[in-house]
Amino acid sequence: MKILVTGGAGFIGSAFIRNNSTAHILNFDKLTYAGNLENLLPIASNPRYRFLRGDICDAAAVDAAFEDFQPDAVVHFAAESHVDRSIHSPAPVIQTNFNGTFTMLEAARKHKTERFVHVSTDEVYGSIPEPLDADESYPLRTSSPYSASKAGSDLLALSYFTTYKMNISVTRASNNYGPYQFPEKLIPLMIANALENKSLPIYGDGMQIRDWLYVDDHCSAIQSVLEKGQAGEVYNIGGSRALPNIEVVKKILAATGRTEALLSYVTDRPGHDRRYAITTAKLEAATGWKATMDFEQGLTATVDWYKANQPWVDRVRSGEYQDFYQQNYGAR
Ligand code: NAD
Ligand code: TYD
Repeated sequence: MKILVTGGAGFIGSAFIRNNSTAHILNFDKLTYAGNLENLLPIASNPRYRFLRGDICDAAAVDAAFEDFQPDAVVHFAAESHVDRSIHSPAPVIQTNFNGTFTMLEAARKHKTERFVHVSTDEVYGSIPEPLDADESYPLRTSSPYSASKAGSDLLALSYFTTYKMNISVTRASNNYGPYQFPEKLIPLMIANALENKSLPIYGDGMQIRDWLYVDDHCSAIQSVLEKGQAGEVYNIGGSRALPNIEVVKKILAATGRTEALLSYVTDRPGHDRRYAITTAKLEAATGWKATMDFEQGLTATVDWYKANQPWVDRVRSGEYQDFYQQNYGAR
């Protein structure tokens, strides 16, 4: 099978590529601040793997990639993926997440690509009141430019199934964690800061709830959807481990041997969703997939990876990251 993977130099896309042991893969990635070819070193010289630098908003470049590679399937990860960045500067988020998805769908339509998996997020449901867990029919009630752009792209992808009968499935995963995650999201930021004895910025009261999914479990779920998912269907992917942020951060303090003196409660994020919670029953019934990583074990493995890869953290934190850190945390 030939798979065109977009965003394969990012956190989840690179794990998907590293974990795939049979397919021929073309990784089409713009290499934004979040794209890092170092993440692909374990597979870089494998003859099944090729990298092509390109922007999913560039229709000519996307078309040329389809023409040359003739993929059987597309797994579409590429996105601007961070809520805080989408609050500070929404334009690239809308451009890549919505218009870029449109470009990918048009190319797949033109080239009659057999299968398309659009990778999305549970954030499209917005904040879920207790005690509900959202299933795939839950209304889309987005709060941030990021989640709105993803919801828009989900609907666009589904419209290509309805209108053009394309073989498209949409996945909506909960919060991922694991090795190689850019240290701007909660878990890698807190680990990197704790290891450097820097303060850990907790937004608001820290009682917001997220469901945590180990990145390799997410990738195996996407592979299951690619192989067994139905056209026009949406599949939630969750880790079945919902925790308040402050509990997650306290576990990180324990795992890094630091104390609560590092905690710093800061001004809340605007439009902050209080609780994400989803059910994964549909995916489990359709494909037999189940999350396998226990949260405490996954967190320990992740902390160990960051401890062992401080030079990776130093490299991705240099340059542009410093400006973002100042913009996001300087005034809080
Ligand atoms: P990431 O930010 O780590 O990586 C994004 C990748 O996309 C980078 O390699 C970047 O260079 C590339 N990219 C960005 N704009 C591009 C463009 N215009 N053209 C080509 N490439 C471009 O993101 P991630 O955390 O790996 O997320 C991957 C996907 O999974 C996204 O669609 C995201 O919405 C979704 N998702 C993420 C999470 C999470 O917790 N991280 C949870 C659910 C869903
Ligand atoms: P994040 O990793 O940005 O993912 P998302 O907003 O997509 O769920 O944030 C996860 C949770 O952690 C969210 O409730 C916001 C909170 N958070 C903090 O409290 N401090 C931080 O520095 C960051 C980045 C996030």
